[in-house]
Amino acid sequence: MSRLQKPTLSRRAYLAGAGAGAAGLMLPPPFSRLARAAGIREFHLRAARGLTRLVSEPYGETSTWCYNGRVPGPEIRVRQGERLRVVVENGLDEETTVHWHGVRLPNAMDGVPHLTQRPIGAGETFTYEFDAIDAGTFWYHPHQRSFEQVGRGLYGPLIVEEPEPVRVYRDVTWILDDWRLTKSSAISDDFGNGHDISHNGRVGNTVTVNGHVSDIFAVQQGERIRLRLINAANARIFGLDFQGHKPMVVALDGQPVAPHAPDGGLVVLGPAMRADVILDMAGEPGSRASVIDRFYQGLEYRLIDLAYDATPLRDRAPDWPLALPANPLPEPDLGNARRHEVVFNGGMMGGMVMAEMGGRGMTGGMGSMMGMMHSGKIWFINGVAAEGHVMEPMLNLERGRPYVLAMTNATAWHHPIHLHGHSFRLVSRNGQSTTHREWQDTVLMAPRERVEIAFVADNPGDWMFHCHILEHQAAGMMGVIRVT
Ligand code: C2O
Ligand code: CU
Repeated sequence: MSRLQKPTLSRRAYLAGAGAGAAGLMLPPPFSRLARAAGIREFHLRAARGLTRLVSEPYGETSTWCYNGRVPGPEIRVRQGERLRVVVENGLDEETTVHWHGVRLPNAMDGVPHLTQRPIGAGETFTYEFDAIDAGTFWYHPHQRSFEQVGRGLYGPLIVEEPEPVRVYRDVTWILDDWRLTKSSAISDDFGNGHDISHNGRVGNTVTVNGHVSDIFAVQQGERIRLRLINAANARIFGLDFQGHKPMVVALDGQPVAPHAPDGGLVVLGPAMRADVILDMAGEPGSRASVIDRFYQGLEYRLIDLAYDATPLRDRAPDWPLALPANPLPEPDLGNARRHEVVFNGGMMGGMVMAEMGGRGMTGGMGSMMGMMHSGKIWFINGVAAEGHVMEPMLNLERGRPYVLAMTNATAWHHPIHLHGHSFRLVSRNGQSTTHREWQDTVLMAPRERVEIAFVADNPGDWMFHCHILEHQAAGMMGVIRVT
């Protein structure tokens, strides 16, 4: 845990609005007017190097990799049922792709290099086009060398609005990230070092909200906000305590969930995960309340302050309904589901876990895992470490059938496990049924935890299934699930 430090740089920057940038960059009028008529929304993203002000003066600007010159990239916001067309131009010196995290789309639009498309070469352009069938909070990022490309700032929010959104005063997106910055506010370029890869990934020393180290977020007493939280960090897990407020979780990973107060009061987000929370601003006019990240014990820090205006908006919370309309997801019939076991292994660990691992008789076996660890592949799914995105499927699923994946985290570390092309219900944790049977696309597994997920394999294609701690993914914790 030696790399895991409290964020140290000052956070004095005023977070202007935080919801800024709702308008994505539209293409020139004639083209986009035509496209609009057909129900298509056009956007343009250019990945390139840029200069970004992550931390306030006296620190300097940071050289980042970004979309359309900014971090995060522009918020792409469409209505459910609309079709997106996103022209991606690669202004980097290396290949890239864009993956639309959590969006159920056709396989060819999934942005996985070599598996679903030829990577976009330097100077090349690729056009993604797909329907927004689910409303919710999603995000986009490269799937090519993600541990560095995302780590240097390539990511942005993708918001799909319900036809009739839940009633609030403001709809706000906070995309959270952390960075490993040097004293001169440059990004430390030790990407993919052995320590990060074999422990808990690249956890940084500087946390940003919408690309800035933020001091305050201005609110008004009586205001109701829909706060869309997105964790875009390579490895940091957030556990947010909105002190003195009662956040109600209404969606997880974009998918509606029965409105509920978060377990233990903390909104927990592993890398890539999202939560939509309804926040009623209950503080006194002129007061301040800190939002504290308490995920790592002993390393708590203040993320941002909610700063109340001197004038209240209203003296009590509105009593408007909180529940979001359901998305068109196929319900897995557990009685008829086929079941597969999935075991995650590897990484640095204590001798006890190592011994147990040897006793489990994994496919591939302990010996072959040890061998691969020497070649830099140190994380395994069912005994196999991925090298690149093209590989034999670990599971072949029959299109239209319900499946249960019974997953065991046999490592000493947390892993946010993500499946492409589908959302799944989280059915149980350690043998206990979950209260909300939440739909997710990424499930955070604690060390030694067992979880069961269920879904209908209704989307044909080869889909990535991987840990979203990007260093773990790069060091093997990735597989392919084929639906035919
Ligand atoms: Cu957010 Cu396979 O990725
Ligand atoms: Cu992991």
